[in-house]
Amino acid sequence: MEIYGLRTHYVTITTMEYRVECIKCGRRFPAHKIIYTCDKCNGLLDIKYDYSSIDNERIVKAKGRGVWKYKALLPFKEGSSSSLSPITINEGDTPLYRCDRLAQSIGLGIGDLWVKHEGLNPSGSFKDRGMTVGVTKAMELHVKGVACASTGNTSASLAIFAAKAGIPCYVLLPKGKVALGKVAQAMMHGAKVLSLLGNFDDALRVVRELCEEENLYLLNSVNPYRLEGQKTIAFEIAEQLNWDIPDRVILPVGNAGNISAIYKGFLELEKLGITSSVPMMTGIQAEGAQPVVRAFKDARTEIIPEPEPETIASAIRIGNPVNAAKALLAIRNSGGLAESVSDAEITESQLLLARAEGIGVEPASAASIAGLRKLYDAGEIDRGEKIVCITTGHLLKDPERAIAICEAPQEVMADLESVRHILHATATLNKNREEHIHIYA
Ligand SMILES: Cc1ncc(COP(=O)(O)O)c(C=O)c1O
Ligand SMILES: [Zn+2]
Repeated sequence: MEIYGLRTHYVTITTMEYRVECIKCGRRFPAHKIIYTCDKCNGLLDIKYDYSSIDNERIVKAKGRGVWKYKALLPFKEGSSSSLSPITINEGDTPLYRCDRLAQSIGLGIGDLWVKHEGLNPSGSFKDRGMTVGVTKAMELHVKGVACASTGNTSASLAIFAAKAGIPCYVLLPKGKVALGKVAQAMMHGAKVLSLLGNFDDALRVVRELCEEENLYLLNSVNPYRLEGQKTIAFEIAEQLNWDIPDRVILPVGNAGNISAIYKGFLELEKLGITSSVPMMTGIQAEGAQPVVRAFKDARTEIIPEPEPETIASAIRIGNPVNAAKALLAIRNSGGLAESVSDAEITESQLLLARAEGIGVEPASAASIAGLRKLYDAGEIDRGEKIVCITTGHLLKDPERAIAICEAPQEVMADLESVRHILHATATLNKNREEHIHIYA
């Protein structure tokens, strides 16, 4: 295996041979060809490596932090003539919090529940992991610009990485359906933002045509390179648990890329002999946008698109998830589950997580906790399972929703007596520590 240098200030990317393959018919495509789905059968594409040529030590003993730490399993060809720097903003390396108070409130055992807070990526969501790889690939391919459709976080992240790379960025957002923080990010970082009169699925359809016609590089999760970056969530979870793996990983599902990517990451660790099993991948959707859950429960391999998806969790308001085929494989092959949760359950879990554990997440992320609670109460999850919930986006992505579901600040005169009067009247000053915790746990 040749050591090849994508040179940067901090990292030398030493990678391996890989190939691009259709998951449906097995057709292979040259790495330099810009293609997102199979031109023969329309199947999704996957990046394949020769695992026998990878030395485990390059993963287990890798130095550095974040996504590029796992460069041995990222798709940049050895011997490439280009000497390319990764486009990076120090993505990844997010905390894995042990959440005993949350566990107890659900009925799980102490030490059995962890939350991987992907909202602490630089742009506030897990999308950064995919974008660092995707935009680095875009630079390698010398594309003239990048584009995406988005429920918000993809556009925020892509705008940042495009700014870092110095290339034009075009984003299509469903009008009135994107949380405020995300739109602000896309605009601030210089993307050309279009407000599309349609939903996310319409935006994705249009942007795919646009990229085809205008030679722009598509960075939605149908692009298999993005998922390569996102699979590092699995590597980090395993490493943070001392190269052990949890029994179950629970996460929200929208376009269904992340669950597919994380499953792949765990599979790779198993293939390399670093770990000995794969967690039960458990995908949670909102009741108003649950095509993957329905397909799972009906034992179908294909989803039936939902024309009018609706939920307060705008990040996962998707009716026709492009990666559904990969996600259903991930869930079934790992012995996992798929479940839907109501908006009320999402809101309750968002508040619980924020107050019992100090973890602030946007509504879509709270779906993972809501799903855990529902599945545990239904007896589908056993007590004693070691569980990791992934929270995908930060609370501040959707400040309007946070304000809507919390008690409004009370106006008060600027003197101590008035302040004390209100606090005594609402009994908050007399609440002791134990009582306070009890309310939320
Ligand atoms: C916060 C958040 N959670 C979950 C998802 C769903 O991820 P995926 O589309 O990979 O299923 C998204 C996608 O936009 C998101 O922004
Ligand atoms: Zn094919």
